[in-house]
Amino acid sequence: MMAEKLDLNTLVEDHRVHRRIYTEPQVFALEMERIFESGWVFLGHDSEVAAAGDFKQVRFGSQPAIMTRDEDGAIQVLMNRCMHRGATICQEERGNARHFRCWYHGWTYNGRGELVGLPYPGGYGKNFDRSRFSLIRAAKVANYRGLVFASLSADVEELPDYLGKARYYIDLFMDLSPQGAVEARAGTHKYGYDGNWKFQMENGVDGYHANFVHQAFFEIQGKRLGRRVMKLFNETSPLESKDLGHGHSLLDTAPRRSSPRLVSNILRGQVPAEIGDAYVQSLVARNGEARAAEILAASNVNLAVFPNLLIIGIQLRNVIPISFNRTEVFLTPTTLCGVHEAINVARLRAHEAFYGPAGGGAPDDVEMFNRCQAGLAVKGAEWLELSRGLERETVGEDGVIAAHLTDEVPQRAFYKRWREIMCGVATAARPSVTLAAAGS
Ligand SMILES: [Fe+2]
Repeated sequence: MMAEKLDLNTLVEDHRVHRRIYTEPQVFALEMERIFESGWVFLGHDSEVAAAGDFKQVRFGSQPAIMTRDEDGAIQVLMNRCMHRGATICQEERGNARHFRCWYHGWTYNGRGELVGLPYPGGYGKNFDRSRFSLIRAAKVANYRGLVFASLSADVEELPDYLGKARYYIDLFMDLSPQGAVEARAGTHKYGYDGNWKFQMENGVDGYHANFVHQAFFEIQGKRLGRRVMKLFNETSPLESKDLGHGHSLLDTAPRRSSPRLVSNILRGQVPAEIGDAYVQSLVARNGEARAAEILAASNVNLAVFPNLLIIGIQLRNVIPISFNRTEVFLTPTTLCGVHEAINVARLRAHEAFYGPAGGGAPDDVEMFNRCQAGLAVKGAEWLELSRGLERETVGEDGVIAAHLTDEVPQRAFYKRWREIMCGVATAARPSVTLAAAGS
């Protein structure tokens, strides 16, 4: 078979990306190595493993792992691979267990990954050292306001530095709770699609598609609420898209309002007035008038945290690459700690209206991912155009790049980072990849 040298650096330009970043298994393999196995990856929320022994299965790209809370209350991230003959030791998606026991030959590990059970140990001689057979652990685990990230490489910056300007928006999301904390224990919507993982990361912060993909939903909602939702997403919208640096980006989809009183109108009709008022007052008491208004106004952002977390509405969305043309997405709604139940019920009902398999909006996005992957099989048209708004970008004093909501600022932000990591632009030069030649 003929082989060609393909320079990854030529696949991403400032304003367009090559179709092969979605269609080449070898590019996918390198993404797993350089992005998902070398840097911070979002795994879940700490409330998902609230009690000692709670666990859930997670992934670093293709590699299966377990996030669990050990007896001392620490979150451990253990690779799901028996140190004996390689079988996965955890099959349940989530649960509570004191030990993980491999079903093949019974090797058993505790919540710290230590080998504590070895059947018929006499067969292993006197010098057999169990401590050499602990499960592999993630090199780094860190928690930012309940969001758990881990890295298989120790050579990463500290998580708060990594999150950078995205922290401001994560703080707003968490501070919607008068206790400053959310829980992610209301269940998870899951879906998969026959397309590349990057489609979902692009789409979660895409302000251009909404009026087309979600037209039917917006029209129905408009009739129901008497509001013209589509105005928020058309050319005259006052809203912005932003590049926060580090590959993180934002659709700022909440109109700015100056007082908590005005913002509390958002809740009108969803919860009884006195409950809405009490909630707003609790935020003012904790944060002060101005900050409470800021928090409430930002309660509807679409935030992308590179490489695999989207915070949209009330949900944490975890994007899980399976192969170059297969992706799974876990979508976990959050509830606010310290509020009247009616507030959380209203949040969940609003979430369900759009998201999940029976939602009015999200399934339409998934269909687009399938269509993109199918369309990219066409050769001859090699590039995907991401230039929208390039000429009207502004750069703030804080370095944040902004343009209109419908502009492709977030997608450019994502690929700027992708290119840095994949091509080593910011670090040492990476070697070219050898790919099989087309048609060989
Ligand atoms: Fe969408």
